[in-house]
Amino acid sequence: MNSIKDQKNLNKKKVLLRLDLNVPLKNGSITDETRINKIIPIIDFLIKEQSKIIIISHVGRPKGKVITDLSLKPICENIEKKINRKIRLVTEDIFKLKKEDLFKDPNDQIVFLENIRFYKEEEKNDTKFAQHLAKFADLYVNDAFSCSHRAHASVSKITEFLPSFAGLQLEIEISALRKVTTEIKKPITCIIGGSKISTKIGIIKNLISKFDNIIIVGGMANNIIKYKGNQIGKSIKEENCDLMIKEIFETLKSHSCKIVFPEDVLIGKNLKDEAQIKELDNIKDDDIILDIGPKTLDKIKGIIKNSETVLWNGPAGYFENPNFANGSYNIAKAITKKNKNNSIYSVVGGGDTIALINKIKLMDDFNFVSTAGGAFLEYLEGKELPGIKALNLYV
Ligand code: 3PG
Repeated sequence: MNSIKDQKNLNKKKVLLRLDLNVPLKNGSITDETRINKIIPIIDFLIKEQSKIIIISHVGRPKGKVITDLSLKPICENIEKKINRKIRLVTEDIFKLKKEDLFKDPNDQIVFLENIRFYKEEEKNDTKFAQHLAKFADLYVNDAFSCSHRAHASVSKITEFLPSFAGLQLEIEISALRKVTTEIKKPITCIIGGSKISTKIGIIKNLISKFDNIIIVGGMANNIIKYKGNQIGKSIKEENCDLMIKEIFETLKSHSCKIVFPEDVLIGKNLKDEAQIKELDNIKDDDIILDIGPKTLDKIKGIIKNSETVLWNGPAGYFENPNFANGSYNIAKAITKKNKNNSIYSVVGGGDTIALINKIKLMDDFNFVSTAGGAFLEYLEGKELPGIKALNLYV
């Protein structure tokens, strides 16, 4: 992979910089800034090199439509404050933009294109769209490891049209994860939670041969609870994944890996509710599963106690409401307690998981914190990530 830090003569070059600024937003405010903090070094580096920077990012899943609540404006303003420089947010239709429109004012050094997922061509990895983006710049830098598992135009296709380089944070993430996969100590436990069920459920089957325990919590566990014949009321779930779950349990038969999923849960009638403990056979039509129950938590703590490595992606519950944060908080505490006496190697990843551990100030207590969630799991699965593969393409 060509690294941007080895490039000479970046002076005055126009750099298309793909970042993953998909940070949690609540009523227009950023609730966790970790992903932003991690990309300040690449911006500082390019400023020092006197490059002209065109930032591309997405936030959320607007699916090709302009959704005002998913504007990058608050994120752009946040970066402006952090680097103490003006950044121009470009809200014009990208298709109408020409290269010379971007830096009309010679004092502008950084421009920020509005949410790239407002264009359906992005997720389609569209060739013309990528070619059009490429016309704005002289070279391309991917510093968005956490969305490099997406074969999207500004992550993958673009590299066919510009000299392409790995960014600083992307290199840090890859070398840390490479170390994890090559020097990993058994027993290995992988905890998978969160609400992005569709991204993760297909991955589990391929992780079975690699780990000793896979603990499934969060939204994805609801599908398993349902598959096992229980009601899940109004809880989030993914449609049409019974076959995938069947395959997970079939694959388990020929491996020693154990899958753990909730034996009891905490429910609420809405997201703001108090928590109520429920056995799986007592879930009512209007219940929403929002956290793991105490029996499940005890079981998970026992597994962590006996693990040498823990990889964790995705909270156990709806931690934004403290009544449903118990599972996630206690998983974090169980891991970091072992970290304190060096009896575990721990890696944690994903936007929501980072937000969680940041909230309880345990960020520095894990061995490595990856900004990536889905990309982290796909990397562990052994898959070649499209965004990383693409960086090797340009000759
Ligand atoms: C992430 O938060 O994992 C990345 O930004 C990718 O987001 P996505 O799952 O919506 O593609």
